[in-house]
Amino acid sequence: MNNILFAASECVPFVKTGGLADVVGSLPQYINKDEFDVRVILPYYTCIPAKFRDNFKYVTHFYMDYGLRPDGVHVGIMEYEYNGIKFYFVDNEYYFKCDYPYTSDTKWDIERFTFFCKAVLAILPVIGFRPDIIHCHDWQSALIPVFMHSTFATNPFYSSTKSIMTIHNLKFQGIWDIETFKYNTALPDYMFTSDKLEFNRAANMLKGGLVYADYITTVSETYAEEIKYPFFGEQLDGLLRARSASLRGIVNGIDYNVFDPSNDKKLYAKYTVKDAKSKKAVNKEKLQAELGLPVDRNKYMIAIISRLTDQKGLDLVNYAIERICDENTQFVIIGTGEQRYENMFKHYQWKYPDRVCAIIKYSDDLAHKLYAAADTMLMPSLFEPCGLTQLIALRYGTVPIVRETGGLKDTVVPYNEFDGTGTGFSFANYNGDEMLGAINYSKSVYYDHRAEWDKMVKRGMEADFSWNSSARQYEGMYSWMINW
Ligand code: GLC
Repeated sequence: MNNILFAASECVPFVKTGGLADVVGSLPQYINKDEFDVRVILPYYTCIPAKFRDNFKYVTHFYMDYGLRPDGVHVGIMEYEYNGIKFYFVDNEYYFKCDYPYTSDTKWDIERFTFFCKAVLAILPVIGFRPDIIHCHDWQSALIPVFMHSTFATNPFYSSTKSIMTIHNLKFQGIWDIETFKYNTALPDYMFTSDKLEFNRAANMLKGGLVYADYITTVSETYAEEIKYPFFGEQLDGLLRARSASLRGIVNGIDYNVFDPSNDKKLYAKYTVKDAKSKKAVNKEKLQAELGLPVDRNKYMIAIISRLTDQKGLDLVNYAIERICDENTQFVIIGTGEQRYENMFKHYQWKYPDRVCAIIKYSDDLAHKLYAAADTMLMPSLFEPCGLTQLIALRYGTVPIVRETGGLKDTVVPYNEFDGTGTGFSFANYNGDEMLGAINYSKSVYYDHRAEWDKMVKRGMEADFSWNSSARQYEGMYSWMINW
């Protein structure tokens, strides 16, 4: 049996702010259990719902040296089994008492997750789980490979442990001044040089992970290429080029048990590929009624389900929205994020109450209903490491309109009217008129070539974006690393 430990800052169903949580929560379930014992370790945030926390089992606690602090710091360990996977939670109330996993104070978050990284390595010998591979996700767990090469380098417990760093989003790196890092980590001076943690005269957690991990992955093949160039590289493209022999992309899957229109209790009407057309219309009418939009199954319903941040291409939407929302179109947005985008969508809802509906909150229930009701899902992202929304949309027979970047490019096949192929619409450049062109083209297919549209819906629903093939790729990588 090979032991794999996932270390991350979020994981469905315990705590989620974005797609990272979906991946960390679902991938372990799809890794072959005869060969791999995959467990997951997370911070024990107080914002994890009580229905889970009340059932966590206390394992033990101890005090750990943390950076240059004079006294030891409390590390508690909780354990919980869910869907056949064992989860560990690192308890320290001072760091993880919160309503939301991240704060607006970067320095503080770095202190919290640096603690998490060190605590993970301190905990494993105590509970006796010796991983063959520690699989780290994003900057919050990126110091684990660094500590494995310093503080824990001579610890025999880790003598054969390897590490993987998976980039879900290169934009977030965990950067603060070197003095603070030295205080938090007690790492040796030689690690704070430009070939290691140093970054624009500060220190960078993700960079440390990318330097010291045995292997690097990211969540689509195209993003794995893009980040080697300055535009997508977030100033780490040189390092990623240097490590390109140890870098690959494996596209994310989605949990087909959670996202299944034939068995989704949140929908007004469940459906399969056979009755998608009529049942999606029912879902649309019911949702229109619930949201206070005119009830009419012939309206073209465009959806956005997204964190409302720069990454998501919302300025293109702002530029084109007046021309998107003609009298036959309804636009439904679900998401929260930056104030300016929340206000922008609220403004258009006020201006076009019968065409725009902006739901500025995170609602899983409404999101599922919208996946089922909408005709298209708009994702004009500036960059998109993988994107899960388009995969869910495809499964629900909702045609994606995407910009050709990262995972969007790898998972949506553009419609070709001449040979009748494709699962969605796409455009290449980050340009509002190009996006509008793709939307208008989709409208013309929807209204004027409905039979072709319906075939496209079917092709999308039949495409396989379960974890099946990607989980096999992770297994192959794990085995290869364990045996090298
Ligand atoms: C991040 C990326 C998104 C990706 C997700 C899971 O949220 O922005 O593209 O799908 O991580 O890997």
